[in-house]
Amino acid sequence: MRTHYCGELNLQHIDQSVSVCGWVNRRRDHGGVIFVDLRDKKGMLQVVFDPDDADMFAQAETLRNEFVLRVEGRLRVRPEGTTNPEMETGEVELLADKLEILNASETPPFQLDEEDVHDDNRLRYRYIDLRKPEMQFRMQLRARVTHFLRSFLERNEFLDIETPMLTKATPEGARDYLVPSRTHPGSFFALPQSPQLFKQLLMMSGMDRYYQIVRCFRDEDLRADRQPEFTQLDIEASFMDEAGIMGLMEMMMRGLFSEVLSVDVDEIFPRMSWSEAMDRYGSDKPDLRIKLELQTISDLLTDVEFKVFSGPAKDPQGRVAALCVPGGNDLTRKEIDDYTDYVGRYGARGLAYIKCNDVSQGRDGLQSPILKFLPDEAILTILERTAAQTGDLIFFGADKASVVNESLGALRLKVAQDRGLVEEGWRFLWVVDFPMFEHDEPENRWNALHHPFTAPATDDPAELEADPGGMLSRAYDMVLNGTELGGGSVRIHSMDMQQRVFKLLGIEEQEAEDKFGFLLTALKYGCPPHGGIAFGLDRMVMLMAGANSIRDVMAFPKTQTASCLLTQAPAPVSEHQLRELSIRLRKPQSEQG
Ligand code: AMO
Ligand code: AMP
Repeated sequence: MRTHYCGELNLQHIDQSVSVCGWVNRRRDHGGVIFVDLRDKKGMLQVVFDPDDADMFAQAETLRNEFVLRVEGRLRVRPEGTTNPEMETGEVELLADKLEILNASETPPFQLDEEDVHDDNRLRYRYIDLRKPEMQFRMQLRARVTHFLRSFLERNEFLDIETPMLTKATPEGARDYLVPSRTHPGSFFALPQSPQLFKQLLMMSGMDRYYQIVRCFRDEDLRADRQPEFTQLDIEASFMDEAGIMGLMEMMMRGLFSEVLSVDVDEIFPRMSWSEAMDRYGSDKPDLRIKLELQTISDLLTDVEFKVFSGPAKDPQGRVAALCVPGGNDLTRKEIDDYTDYVGRYGARGLAYIKCNDVSQGRDGLQSPILKFLPDEAILTILERTAAQTGDLIFFGADKASVVNESLGALRLKVAQDRGLVEEGWRFLWVVDFPMFEHDEPENRWNALHHPFTAPATDDPAELEADPGGMLSRAYDMVLNGTELGGGSVRIHSMDMQQRVFKLLGIEEQEAEDKFGFLLTALKYGCPPHGGIAFGLDRMVMLMAGANSIRDVMAFPKTQTASCLLTQAPAPVSEHQLRELSIRLRKPQSEQG
């Protein structure tokens, strides 16, 4: 039907007869001539309808936005003064000889170049939203990313293997999506939260190196970087340790950024232990584009009379930390109050601060409601540690370490965004040396920080059992600009160690057998040492596309409440279907007798 895409025509094609197909982006009538911007996946082309051909002209007058056309004509240079440098095809136009209206369109619910279209509308009419040049670009970028990843992994001997979607629960920490079984009344499949156990079984199957671009399902609270179904680049390799896997993954990311974005990234990604990340940034996924850092000052404050500080300073689980904001002295009372509310959302009970009017004068050059509670020596050391300068402002957090880290960590990001302190660039980072377990206070038990198949830093079960809280794991996360791109670990490959880890996690023998019996059995029959990683593909593409939400790089995403506005899923089903599945719904309260 066509000889060229609209967006690829330029001065090279002058005087050629071409035919193009696409959508009417806009029609303009100008002193007896009609101009139509015709749009396809490669861009926009100006088509001119001359009144000489009265029939065609009359047809062109009926054109509206989003009509679908096929146009034949001759490409010509635009007259002087009418070129459009904003358009790729801005120097040429198509003088139409023949117009075919392939389809009409009702007035679309929103214009493609309209700003602030409500998200619900974009999702309900996703096929129109996706016609936008920006969305076309994002989908094309995503396809280029997956193409590169596949070819890289295939070059490196990874085998693309599919794993089941109808399966058993996998413990990645979210709620499962369940699928009722018709043939086994009362039993359910779970959709995979990740292919974790299957990829380990593939290593035990001798597949050596596996990858899959795979859909995962997690019923959890949604955010800008979380969707109920999302895509992982899932990877596992045998006979490789963490250094081997991390090195290969760095090579992959370097290649990806170079190929798709023409960007050179660090030769070797920096590595930081989990505890250093928490200390310096209050986060296990620090954004290194921001220079601000937290400083621990607990040791200076154990004896001060200000209980807000001395309490957490003395508590082994507590932390008092400072965050110096360069030039922050100009923050108003109102702005400080707003930041205080902001950290409140993360559990902080207040946000003390000191304004540095003139640091050369020591205490006299400072201004703060808490100054009177602090001895000179503490003040001077705080100024020293935070390297505060005249004109800065220092914020303080004092609480349980987890609360201080979360709240000051979030404040660090917010202040940096508000004050333009986020540098340009791509800052990759490996976070390593995670604790093996975290303690669940209310339940008084250990939880796996990564997942229960992650190997501890020791091969000796006795060492693990002696101090589970102090044990590190062999897990690693790849972080890019403050987003956790992916995470993985070297896995447990001994059945004895796996059983002991289950036990430490409070999973009883019977439960372990019911849930993971197949894995424990497989571990008895010659399991190679192995490890792997999974990347959030949507997050990767989101960052590369400069989008704010993974929804913007998914063709058909779900809403914040996990529904699809386009198809209206999830939807009620017929009584008959439910009966077949042996499911009885409880009537809503209002209908109960
Ligand atoms: P994890 O649970 O860390 O590890 O997931 C790996 C990566 O997947 C992405 N991700 C998500 N993206 C969008 N929406 C979600 N709801 C969502 N949840 C996770 C993140 C994350 O880093 N089996 C292990 C990996 C392994 O050990 O090999 C796993 O799934 O980018
Ligand atoms: P108060 O004595 O409660 O008026 O608090 C004095 C200052 O300390 C105020 O600026 C509070 O915001 C701040 N503050 C109170 N609790 C905390 C806390 N847990 N961490 C940091 N600052 C706090």
